[in-house]
Amino acid sequence: MQKVVFRVKRYIPERGPKSYYEEFEVPFRRGMTVLDGLIYIKENLENTLSIRYSCRMAICGSCGMRINGIEMLACNTQVAELGVPIITVEPMRNFPLLKDLVVNMDEMFIKQRRLKTWLVRRDTEEQDNPTSQYLQSDEELVRYLQFSYCIQCGLCYSACPVVATFPKFYGPQPLMKSYRYIADSRDEGGRERLGLVDTSEGVWRCHFAGSCSKVCPKGVDPALAIQLLRRRVLTS
Ligand code: SF4
Ligand code: FES
Repeated sequence: MQKVVFRVKRYIPERGPKSYYEEFEVPFRRGMTVLDGLIYIKENLENTLSIRYSCRMAICGSCGMRINGIEMLACNTQVAELGVPIITVEPMRNFPLLKDLVVNMDEMFIKQRRLKTWLVRRDTEEQDNPTSQYLQSDEELVRYLQFSYCIQCGLCYSACPVVATFPKFYGPQPLMKSYRYIADSRDEGGRERLGLVDTSEGVWRCHFAGSCSKVCPKGVDPALAIQLLRRRVLTS
């Protein structure tokens, strides 16, 4: 493969409300990622192309997009592994589109905040002036460990068919993150969070399509977290 065609979905608000596809020929090189190709386009062919990225190593979570119809991190997707001469690149779904491949992810973070996705403790005096560590056993750590690998890329949220049809649904990432803290032995905010997710916008709205877990680049299983949340709600 000497060249690869990038078929990029473009949206430039100043030029009108419609999205359109634009094709670019990019020289192929061994080890090239989809993000490398997009950066090549921006630097050499079309400098108005908007993309979001930072770490280039699947850590920061900022380069999520749809590549040939599937949610992926552009920096973590090898062009050679796609095995096709034309690569279609589109922005994530379920987020308002800002420009080209850049979406506004505020809503997902607002939902996280509503679900109090941080360690809640009542001993505020101890937190301000710590006298000891919050110890945790290996078994206690394993209960939430996989859920702490989330890099907040939003791919699961984009892939969720329920968010697509019912935007008030908290969505896989905020619900998973809420479970991550409920399952943490150091946390004391579980009761309040369970009240927040035991609603029609919460765990009961999930249809268990499972697409969230399928697309997660970090091996997190948000669909499992939602099932575990349901169990907590029913047994609490
Ligand atoms: S659960 Fe996975 S897909 Fe969803 S935001 Fe976190 S890292 Fe991304
Ligand atoms: S650029 Fe950071 S995850 Fe892709």
